Amino acid sequence: MPRFPPNPERRPAVVTGASSGIGRAVAVALAGAGHPVVVGARRSDQCEDLAASIRDGGGQALAHPLDLADQSSVDAFASAATEALGEIEIVVSNAGRSTAGSVLDTSPDELHATLDVNVEGTHRLVRSLVPAMVGRRRGDIVFVTSDVAERPRPTMAAYVTSKWGLEGYVRSLQMELEGSGVRASIVRPGPTLTGMGMDWDPGVTATVIDTWARWGFARHSSFMRPAAVAEAVLAVVSLPRGIHATTLELQPEAPIEPIDGAIEPIGPAEPQVEEESR
Ligand SMILES: NC(=O)c1ccc[n+]([C@@H]2O[C@H](COP(=O)([O-])OP(=O)(O)OC[C@H]3O[C@@H](n4cnc5c(N)ncnc54)[C@H](OP(=O)(O)O)[C@@H]3O)[C@@H](O)[C@H]2O)c1
Repeated sequence: MPRFPPNPERRPAVVTGASSGIGRAVAVALAGAGHPVVVGARRSDQCEDLAASIRDGGGQALAHPLDLADQSSVDAFASAATEALGEIEIVVSNAGRSTAGSVLDTSPDELHATLDVNVEGTHRLVRSLVPAMVGRRRGDIVFVTSDVAERPRPTMAAYVTSKWGLEGYVRSLQMELEGSGVRASIVRPGPTLTGMGMDWDPGVTATVIDTWARWGFARHSSFMRPAAVAEAVLAVVSLPRGIHATTLELQPEAPIEPIDGAIEPIGPAEPQVEEESR
């Protein structure tokens, strides 16, 4: 009898925030690996399209509306997932809300709305699905956080606060789950090319990027592809029993510099060079 019975090959999974970006790519990757998936977000049409395209490709998928800010919606999502696919073995808690704004410019309502999705919504999901995993002594939960949790940055006050809080939440959970057979993992992406932030006012975005550059963030212009981040999530849940990826930070590789060439300037804009004095 192995110390850790292997995971079943077919592992029903749920993915939140699957209407776009990383969540959509994670659902595709999990389905491609043979796992049935239930995908959820508020934009039901996008989730339905995703589920249909997975089914067209021979996978098993179901879409169900999900608003993480609404307890009854989370409960309905979790019940529908379990009824449709059986016991859920993999939870990818990916959905996230992000807005720009300094601490002083962020209204209490905006701070609350962000925490309500990114932290409290995650907690609603965990309470709906994880107790059954603990009862079965196996399962994987992946929390998609952000590198802002490790390195907070200015002008994204509500988002930074929520992701910092989320990582604290997961690290407590990891300790509490020790010995339960359930693995809780942090996947902490850096810049990824998705719709996130694309709805911000372009002027606000320019100010945010400029502020980050001045604080040493946005060191080069490369972004990760959502599909690449999804590969990492799939790798985390595919690890054999007996090993636990607690935290995996992902960053885009910097553009490769020629060995003997001049070092290319990095950062979002050409560095300003003072004119030579005469
Ligand atoms: N892109 C990056 O550079 C980056 C970097 C680090 C971390 N991340 C994290 O990666 C995760 C995915 O973001 P993304 O980059 O893929 O951006 P995205 O395409 O905007 O995806 C965000 C997802 O969250 C969902 N969502 C937002 N509010 C929700 C709610 N109340 N209930 C349910 N779903 C909700 C959205 O769906 P609906 O609007 O349809 O509800 C959407 O599917 C987020 O947690 C984000 O913080 C992203």
